[in-house]
Amino acid sequence: MKSDSLPVALITGSTSGIGAAIARRLAADGYAVVLHSRSSADAGRALARELGAAAYVQADLADDAQRVRLVREAAAHWGRLDVLVNNAGISRVIAHADLAAATPDIWHALYEVNVVAPFRLATEAQAALREAAARGRPGSVVNVSSHAGVRPKGASIPYAATKAALNHVTRLLALALAPDIRVNAVAPGLVDTPLTSDWTQAQQLWQEKSPMRRSAKPEDIAQAVAMLVDSDYLTGEILLCDGGLNLT
Ligand SMILES: NC(=O)c1ccc[n+]([C@@H]2O[C@H](COP(=O)([O-])OP(=O)(O)OC[C@H]3O[C@@H](n4cnc5c(N)ncnc54)[C@H](OP(=O)(O)O)[C@@H]3O)[C@@H](O)[C@H]2O)c1
Repeated sequence: MKSDSLPVALITGSTSGIGAAIARRLAADGYAVVLHSRSSADAGRALARELGAAAYVQADLADDAQRVRLVREAAAHWGRLDVLVNNAGISRVIAHADLAAATPDIWHALYEVNVVAPFRLATEAQAALREAAARGRPGSVVNVSSHAGVRPKGASIPYAATKAALNHVTRLLALALAPDIRVNAVAPGLVDTPLTSDWTQAQQLWQEKSPMRRSAKPEDIAQAVAMLVDSDYLTGEILLCDGGLNLT
């Protein structure tokens, strides 16, 4: 299927939470969207039907062959790819002082999905995103990082370290791929999604201590992503979206 009129965005992990909100937002902003997840295919297909100019691709981002297939199928479906949102991510909750619980297996699993996968998807999408520049607007990559990658906080040390690595990859790719492709990140604080539904202490912290007195809704993060996508100039930015908690 060809889409000469609509720009196309691939949003990873877009069957729930932040990713689904980003897909809805970019669809409302006039993008054809490629939805993706690891296993929740029914939810992906249902959202694709709801959004109209949308397709769904299933791929496990822990597996490199599936990463490559995802980008190929995404670019082929509409015949172009203008935006890549690396949203899919995994977390483990481990007390920071419990060093032994952060096993090598956990480190490797989080690093594969949260760091290696976004880098590999950008690598595979590079040619298609450069074609976007040739059509008149730079291609755009937005990585969904975390405030835990900016401050010494977060669900666990391995999780926070992967997000800090993703922030640095964002800046390095912004340098390496300019001017044809812009690369930015949003770094959310606490967001109300299935991942955090039982994080009662964090919810209380945001309600009591953050200047905005609440955690983010997925739509708040989607709005920040849409702002970065909409720009033709911003690159290498890590946009902290934590309701101001970092100021306290
Ligand atoms: N929620 C927060 O408070 C918060 C704060 C800061 C940053 N973040 C970041 O925001 C992003 C989205 O978080 P969320 O809370 O919206 O998560 P979520 O509701 O748990 O959704 C995660 C999405 O990623 C997909 N996914 C997970 N592992 C995958 C894999 N190996 N291969 C392919 N897809 C995979 C899931 O697909 P399946 O459902 O099919 O497995 C799902 O679509 C993550 O990068 C997270 O680290 C979240």
